[in-house]
Amino acid sequence: MLIAPSLLSCDFSIFRDEIIRVDEAGADIMHLDVMDGHFVPNLTFGAPVIKKLRGATDKPFDVHLMISEPHRYINDFADAGADIISFHTECDSDIAETLDLIEKRGVKPALAIKPGTPVDAVLPYLDRLYMVLVMTVEPGFGGQSFMPDMMEKVVFLRKEIADRGLKTLIEVDGGIAKNTIATAAKAGVDICVAGTAVFGAPDAKAAIDELKVLCG
Ligand code: DX5
Ligand code: ZN
Repeated sequence: MLIAPSLLSCDFSIFRDEIIRVDEAGADIMHLDVMDGHFVPNLTFGAPVIKKLRGATDKPFDVHLMISEPHRYINDFADAGADIISFHTECDSDIAETLDLIEKRGVKPALAIKPGTPVDAVLPYLDRLYMVLVMTVEPGFGGQSFMPDMMEKVVFLRKEIADRGLKTLIEVDGGIAKNTIATAAKAGVDICVAGTAVFGAPDAKAAIDELKVLCG
Protein backbone atom coordinates (compact mmCIF):
# COMPACT_ATOMS: atom_id res chain seq x y z
CA MET A 1 0.00 0.00 0.00
CA LEU A 2 1.31 3.42 -0.95
CA ILE A 3 0.48 6.37 1.30
CA ALA A 4 -0.15 9.77 -0.25
CA PRO A 5 -0.45 12.47 2.42
CA SER A 6 -2.98 15.14 1.41
CA LEU A 7 -1.28 18.51 1.84
CA LEU A 8 -4.72 20.04 2.31
CA SER A 9 -4.28 19.28 6.01
CA CYS A 10 -0.79 20.74 6.33
CA ASP A 11 0.23 24.08 7.83
CA PHE A 12 0.13 26.29 4.73
CA SER A 13 2.30 28.95 6.38
CA ILE A 14 5.18 26.46 6.09
CA PHE A 15 3.94 24.54 3.03
CA ARG A 16 7.41 23.65 1.73
CA ASP A 17 8.64 22.44 5.12
CA GLU A 18 5.52 20.30 5.49
CA ILE A 19 6.32 18.54 2.20
CA ILE A 20 9.85 17.88 3.38
CA ARG A 21 8.55 16.66 6.74
CA VAL A 22 6.21 14.04 5.24
CA ASP A 23 8.81 13.10 2.62
CA GLU A 24 11.23 12.26 5.44
CA ALA A 25 8.41 10.51 7.31
CA GLY A 26 8.07 8.00 4.47
CA ALA A 27 5.31 9.44 2.27
CA ASP A 28 5.28 7.67 -1.10
CA ILE A 29 3.41 10.33 -3.08
CA MET A 30 2.42 13.97 -2.43
CA HIS A 31 -1.33 14.51 -2.93
CA LEU A 32 -2.18 18.10 -3.86
CA ASP A 33 -5.85 19.13 -3.77
CA VAL A 34 -6.74 21.90 -6.19
CA MET A 35 -10.21 23.42 -5.64
CA ASP A 36 -11.85 26.25 -7.57
CA GLY A 37 -14.76 27.25 -5.31
CA HIS A 38 -17.13 26.18 -8.09
CA PHE A 39 -16.79 22.43 -8.61
CA VAL A 40 -16.52 22.16 -4.82
CA PRO A 41 -17.43 24.75 -2.18
CA ASN A 42 -13.82 25.45 -1.18
CA LEU A 43 -10.74 27.17 -2.60
CA THR A 44 -7.14 26.08 -2.26
CA PHE A 45 -4.17 26.75 -4.52
CA GLY A 46 -3.22 26.44 -8.18
CA ALA A 47 -0.36 25.70 -10.53
CA PRO A 48 1.92 28.63 -9.51
CA VAL A 49 2.00 27.40 -5.91
CA ILE A 50 2.66 23.81 -6.99
CA LYS A 51 5.47 24.98 -9.28
CA LYS A 52 7.21 26.71 -6.36
CA LEU A 53 6.91 23.57 -4.23
CA ARG A 54 8.12 21.10 -6.86
CA GLY A 55 11.74 21.41 -5.77
CA ALA A 56 10.99 20.38 -2.17
CA THR A 57 11.01 16.63 -2.91
CA ASP A 58 11.68 14.05 -5.61
CA LYS A 59 8.50 12.14 -4.70
CA PRO A 60 5.70 12.13 -7.31
CA PHE A 61 3.19 14.99 -7.27
CA ASP A 62 -0.37 13.64 -7.51
CA VAL A 63 -2.51 16.63 -8.44
CA HIS A 64 -6.22 16.14 -7.71
CA LEU A 65 -8.21 18.71 -9.69
CA MET A 66 -11.56 19.51 -8.14
CA ILE A 67 -12.31 22.17 -10.72
CA SER A 68 -15.11 22.64 -13.26
CA GLU A 69 -13.00 23.08 -16.40
CA PRO A 70 -9.80 21.07 -15.99
CA HIS A 71 -8.94 21.16 -19.72
CA ARG A 72 -8.14 24.89 -19.43
CA TYR A 73 -5.35 24.29 -16.92
CA ILE A 74 -3.68 20.99 -17.90
CA ASN A 75 -0.67 22.72 -19.48
CA ASP A 76 -0.20 24.88 -16.39
CA PHE A 77 -0.16 21.86 -14.07
CA ALA A 78 2.14 19.95 -16.41
CA ASP A 79 4.50 22.96 -16.46
CA ALA A 80 4.31 23.07 -12.66
CA GLY A 81 5.70 19.52 -12.49
CA ALA A 82 2.65 17.32 -11.89
CA ASP A 83 3.42 13.61 -12.30
CA ILE A 84 -0.20 12.45 -12.06
CA ILE A 85 -3.23 14.62 -12.88
CA SER A 86 -6.66 13.46 -11.70
CA PHE A 87 -9.82 15.21 -12.78
CA HIS A 88 -13.47 14.37 -12.17
CA THR A 89 -15.86 12.66 -14.58
CA GLU A 90 -18.48 15.11 -13.20
CA CYS A 91 -16.60 18.17 -14.54
CA ASP A 92 -17.73 20.33 -17.50
CA SER A 93 -14.75 19.52 -19.75
CA ASP A 94 -14.80 16.85 -22.45
CA ILE A 95 -13.24 13.82 -20.76
CA ALA A 96 -11.50 12.27 -23.78
CA GLU A 97 -10.08 15.64 -24.88
CA THR A 98 -8.80 16.39 -21.39
CA LEU A 99 -7.12 12.97 -21.25
CA ASP A 100 -5.54 13.76 -24.65
CA LEU A 101 -4.09 16.99 -23.22
CA ILE A 102 -2.64 15.18 -20.20
CA GLU A 103 -1.16 12.39 -22.33
CA LYS A 104 0.33 14.87 -24.78
CA ARG A 105 2.30 16.40 -21.92
CA GLY A 106 3.63 13.04 -20.76
CA VAL A 107 1.76 13.26 -17.46
CA LYS A 108 0.00 10.21 -16.01
CA PRO A 109 -3.78 10.56 -16.45
CA ALA A 110 -6.33 9.68 -13.79
CA LEU A 111 -10.09 10.01 -13.47
CA ALA A 112 -11.86 10.65 -10.16
CA ILE A 113 -15.44 9.88 -9.19
CA LYS A 114 -17.52 11.40 -6.41
CA PRO A 115 -19.40 9.09 -4.02
CA GLY A 116 -22.68 9.50 -5.93
CA THR A 117 -21.17 8.64 -9.31
CA PRO A 118 -21.38 5.04 -10.49
CA VAL A 119 -18.12 3.34 -11.38
CA ASP A 120 -19.42 2.93 -14.96
CA ALA A 121 -18.42 6.57 -15.57
CA VAL A 122 -14.74 5.63 -15.83
CA LEU A 123 -15.12 2.36 -17.76
CA PRO A 124 -15.03 3.82 -21.31
CA TYR A 125 -11.64 5.39 -20.48
CA LEU A 126 -10.13 2.69 -18.27
CA ASP A 127 -7.64 1.43 -20.86
CA ARG A 128 -5.91 4.79 -21.01
CA LEU A 129 -5.87 5.60 -17.28
CA TYR A 130 -2.82 5.34 -15.05
CA MET A 131 -5.10 5.50 -12.03
CA VAL A 132 -8.73 5.69 -10.93
CA LEU A 133 -9.46 7.84 -7.88
CA VAL A 134 -12.50 6.63 -5.95
CA MET A 135 -13.64 9.35 -3.53
CA THR A 136 -14.61 7.98 -0.14
CA VAL A 137 -16.00 11.36 1.04
CA GLU A 138 -17.70 14.23 -0.79
CA PRO A 139 -14.80 16.23 -2.23
CA GLY A 140 -14.12 19.65 -0.76
CA PHE A 141 -12.87 19.26 2.78
CA GLY A 142 -10.52 17.14 4.87
CA GLY A 143 -11.55 15.47 8.10
CA GLN A 144 -14.77 13.77 6.94
CA SER A 145 -15.88 10.19 7.61
CA PHE A 146 -14.90 7.32 5.30
CA MET A 147 -17.77 5.82 3.26
CA PRO A 148 -17.25 2.03 3.35
CA ASP A 149 -19.92 1.49 0.65
CA MET A 150 -17.45 2.87 -1.89
CA MET A 151 -15.43 -0.34 -1.56
CA GLU A 152 -17.94 -2.01 -3.90
CA LYS A 153 -16.57 0.27 -6.63
CA VAL A 154 -13.01 -0.70 -5.74
CA VAL A 155 -13.77 -4.43 -5.84
CA PHE A 156 -15.54 -4.05 -9.19
CA LEU A 157 -12.67 -2.00 -10.65
CA ARG A 158 -10.03 -4.41 -9.38
CA LYS A 159 -11.74 -7.25 -11.28
CA GLU A 160 -12.33 -5.17 -14.40
CA ILE A 161 -8.67 -4.07 -14.47
CA ALA A 162 -7.53 -7.70 -14.12
CA ASP A 163 -10.01 -8.94 -16.75
CA ARG A 164 -8.72 -6.38 -19.23
CA GLY A 165 -5.08 -7.16 -18.39
CA LEU A 166 -4.39 -3.57 -17.34
CA LYS A 167 -2.06 -2.15 -14.69
CA THR A 168 -4.33 0.73 -13.68
CA LEU A 169 -3.87 1.76 -10.05
CA ILE A 170 -6.76 2.41 -7.67
CA GLU A 171 -6.56 5.29 -5.22
CA VAL A 172 -9.03 6.18 -2.48
CA ASP A 173 -9.33 9.61 -0.92
CA GLY A 174 -11.18 10.71 2.19
CA GLY A 175 -11.43 9.49 5.75
CA ILE A 176 -8.50 7.08 5.55
CA ALA A 177 -7.32 6.45 9.10
CA LYS A 178 -6.24 3.68 11.47
CA ASN A 179 -9.77 2.32 11.69
CA THR A 180 -10.54 2.37 7.94
CA ILE A 181 -7.38 1.58 6.00
CA ALA A 182 -7.65 -2.21 6.40
CA THR A 183 -11.07 -2.09 4.70
CA ALA A 184 -9.51 -0.24 1.76
CA ALA A 185 -6.57 -2.65 1.59
CA LYS A 186 -8.88 -5.68 1.61
CA ALA A 187 -10.94 -4.22 -1.25
CA GLY A 188 -7.81 -3.95 -3.41
CA VAL A 189 -6.72 -0.32 -3.15
CA ASP A 190 -3.14 0.54 -4.25
CA ILE A 191 -2.82 4.12 -2.96
CA CYS A 192 -4.46 5.67 0.10
CA VAL A 193 -4.64 9.44 0.42
CA ALA A 194 -4.50 10.49 4.06
CA GLY A 195 -4.76 14.07 5.26
CA THR A 196 -5.92 14.29 8.86
CA ALA A 197 -4.45 10.87 9.71
CA VAL A 198 -0.94 12.07 8.83
CA PHE A 199 -0.94 15.82 9.55
CA GLY A 200 -3.14 15.51 12.63
CA ALA A 201 -0.79 12.95 14.20
CA PRO A 202 1.95 14.04 16.61
CA ASP A 203 4.52 11.99 14.66
CA ALA A 204 4.01 11.72 10.89
CA LYS A 205 6.45 8.84 10.50
CA ALA A 206 4.76 6.78 13.20
CA ALA A 207 1.38 7.52 11.60
CA ILE A 208 2.48 6.45 8.11
CA ASP A 209 4.23 3.33 9.45
CA GLU A 210 1.14 2.35 11.41
CA LEU A 211 -1.18 2.85 8.42
CA LYS A 212 1.05 0.54 6.36
CA VAL A 213 1.20 -2.12 9.09
CA LEU A 214 -2.60 -2.11 9.36
CA CYS A 215 -2.83 -3.08 5.68
CA GLY A 216 -1.34 -6.44 6.62
C1 DX5 B 1 -11.09 16.12 -0.07
C2 DX5 B 1 -9.68 15.93 -0.58
C3 DX5 B 1 -8.91 14.99 0.23
C4 DX5 B 1 -8.79 15.37 1.69
C5 DX5 B 1 -8.59 14.12 2.48
O1 DX5 B 1 -11.83 16.77 -1.03
O2 DX5 B 1 -9.71 15.44 -1.90
O3 DX5 B 1 -7.64 14.74 -0.36
O4 DX5 B 1 -7.75 16.26 1.93
O5 DX5 B 1 -8.52 14.46 3.83
P1 DX5 B 1 -8.79 13.40 5.01
O6 DX5 B 1 -7.75 12.33 4.86
O7 DX5 B 1 -8.64 14.21 6.23
O8 DX5 B 1 -10.18 12.86 4.81
ZN1 ZN C 1 -7.80 14.71 -2.83
